[in-house]
Amino acid sequence: MKAQKLGRSTVAVHGLPEPHQDNQPVVAPIMQSATFVNPVGSDREVLYTRYGNNPNQVRLARKYAMLEGAEEAVFTASGMGATALAHLAVLRPGDHLVASKWIYGGTLKLFDEEFARFGIQITYVDPTTPRLWRKSIRKTTRAIFIETPVNPTIRVLDLAPIARLAKEYGVALLVDATFASPINFRPLEHGADLVITSATKYLNGHSDVIAGAVAGARAVVEEVIRLMRLWGQALDPHAAWLIERGMKTLSIRMERHNRNGLAVASFLEKHSQVAAVSYPGLASHPDHAVAAKTLAGFGGMIGLTVKGGTAGAERFLKRLRLFTHAPSLAGVESLVSDPRHTSHKGWSAEQLAAAGIQPGFVRLSCGIEDPEDLIADLEQALAR
Ligand SMILES: Cc1ncc(COP(=O)(O)O)c(C=O)c1O
Repeated sequence: MKAQKLGRSTVAVHGLPEPHQDNQPVVAPIMQSATFVNPVGSDREVLYTRYGNNPNQVRLARKYAMLEGAEEAVFTASGMGATALAHLAVLRPGDHLVASKWIYGGTLKLFDEEFARFGIQITYVDPTTPRLWRKSIRKTTRAIFIETPVNPTIRVLDLAPIARLAKEYGVALLVDATFASPINFRPLEHGADLVITSATKYLNGHSDVIAGAVAGARAVVEEVIRLMRLWGQALDPHAAWLIERGMKTLSIRMERHNRNGLAVASFLEKHSQVAAVSYPGLASHPDHAVAAKTLAGFGGMIGLTVKGGTAGAERFLKRLRLFTHAPSLAGVESLVSDPRHTSHKGWSAEQLAAAGIQPGFVRLSCGIEDPEDLIADLEQALAR
């Protein structure tokens, strides 16, 4: 059976199908071992879990690479670890990075507080002004980084013109597509060189593991793996096993997240206590055309601005019963988070407004519950 002929649900369940062997377990066991017996005198690669070559890590990475359509992938101990190593694989001291202004708050801090220490210069671009991408390129620019769909405002960027620019100038294009998962969007198919994901989110899908992943061409991922070994960022085998199990339902979970996201956003858009809804599946969304053209589904994430500003949002959050107020997303259970107290803590009102976050804004992550129950929960929390 040829791997490239398999559908994404099949790949999510099986990865690369292996011959069935009598009396072998159907589920790959957890190899909870730091080290493996090393043949005496052998020059073969040493197996050691920090190296990322534990069978659980290898199996998981292969499955993820297949889902992204990548030559190679590697998992790391967190999404932040994946973002850091992916950039360090393509940037050297003195290099320049062009990054979208609309990125996860943790990534922004990593760039501002840590990359500066490595002598990496950064220019942030407002993605609403496309000509700024070209204007920001310098002789020393080695990479462009974007996140799409954007946390927490759920804007969607058009990769095609940015990918063309990256090719023209010979710079690497890195894309964090955590909010889409490879079921809804595969950046490598749109000209990205590396895709980064927080596997904590949709890939694992059960809010019980912290992990990240990077996928792309073998040569670059091998550099990420080299850095992972030296900076000690490998994923624990038990976590790898849990993510692999979670990924078996990725495709079917995404179908439900997509359906619930659209149902909830359509309900919220018509509600009298709602000031604004940002969901790329709605015709009112500023990036609806790009999203409809490039995404296979609009996902479960919704930017919601309730009436009554901060007090209105806090009242709403306290009244929710199914949506849990917790700073993560993309699990089977619906979550809600207030970026002013998590990813955007300490930002001024002006900075928040520039990032598209108005008073009363919260970010919903619709799980896979029955949509009518989610809507009923939101309805009672919004009631006056
Ligand atoms: C878009 C995005 N990228 C990266 C990260 C970091 O992932 P992790 O928490 O797994 O380190 C997050 C976390 O929320 C995120 O939302």
